[in-house]
Amino acid sequence: MNNKRRHVLSVDDLTNDDVGRLFFAARSSEYRSLNNLVLMTIFLEPSTRTRLSFEMAAARLSMKTLTFFSGVSSLLKGESIDDTLANLVALGPDICVLRAPQQLDRDRVGKFSCGIINGGDGIHEHPSQALLDCFTLIDHFRCDDLGGRKILIIGDSAHSRVAHSNIKLMTRLGASVDLLGPPSLLLRDSIGQNACFDHFDDVHESYDAVMTLRIQKERLDQDELIHDGEYFLRYGLTLDRFTRLGDNCVLLHPGPINVGIELDTTLMQHGRSLILSQVAHGVAVRRALLNFIAKEA
Ligand code: CP
Repeated sequence: MNNKRRHVLSVDDLTNDDVGRLFFAARSSEYRSLNNLVLMTIFLEPSTRTRLSFEMAAARLSMKTLTFFSGVSSLLKGESIDDTLANLVALGPDICVLRAPQQLDRDRVGKFSCGIINGGDGIHEHPSQALLDCFTLIDHFRCDDLGGRKILIIGDSAHSRVAHSNIKLMTRLGASVDLLGPPSLLLRDSIGQNACFDHFDDVHESYDAVMTLRIQKERLDQDELIHDGEYFLRYGLTLDRFTRLGDNCVLLHPGPINVGIELDTTLMQHGRSLILSQVAHGVAVRRALLNFIAKEA
């Protein structure tokens, strides 16, 4: 049986010192091998980046990885998610990355002896995404934190776990975060955001970074859905709108991108697009996160 390992279910589970140490480790090309440890990835919702990014990070650390595929699992025979998780943890992995359609139950998950990293739970949190987004900005600006930086998040912040984790972490690191989007999809609970805008024409300031988000259609009721064309007309990031946000404004998107809805096709290759840098940095940040959890047992 493992000793009890640390869990990272929210960015709130990491202090600013922890984040600083993680970013320092992510920058380093020297890291210890974890070849005696097993990572299990358990994704109960689709993923391209997060699962493979953790598995790539684990490969760099010489960890063994076991991948749970829900579509060929006994979930199809009626086993509950809770029972499935209990059985997967009983197999004895050292660290699990868990993506779930609902908020992770901290009391329940907290009893697991293996380290649990939240790989995205419903609309709630996606801490490793926020870490890699902040790391990407800090690396781009060549600074120690996000002090004084202005960031605009465009889209469905209400249902975005990426937005929830990022607003908290970006503001903790010193940034001011504004939101723009359809009124029904704007995050109203105060978790650190500054101003909220319903219309692009209300945005008059310059920004250091803009993050566009996918509309989380799978989490919306039928009457909340907005036609793709109408959304692009009102909130889609075009070259003209991107230019208006400032000469030095950089573009982030956590993915997956619906090109032609959240942003114009040409912007992905724009000189100030950091979208693929986010993906590349994700591996380094997750490698640091796996090492961070491994060393605390
Ligand atoms: N950013 C992100 O979570 O992407 P995936 O859904 O592809 O993992």
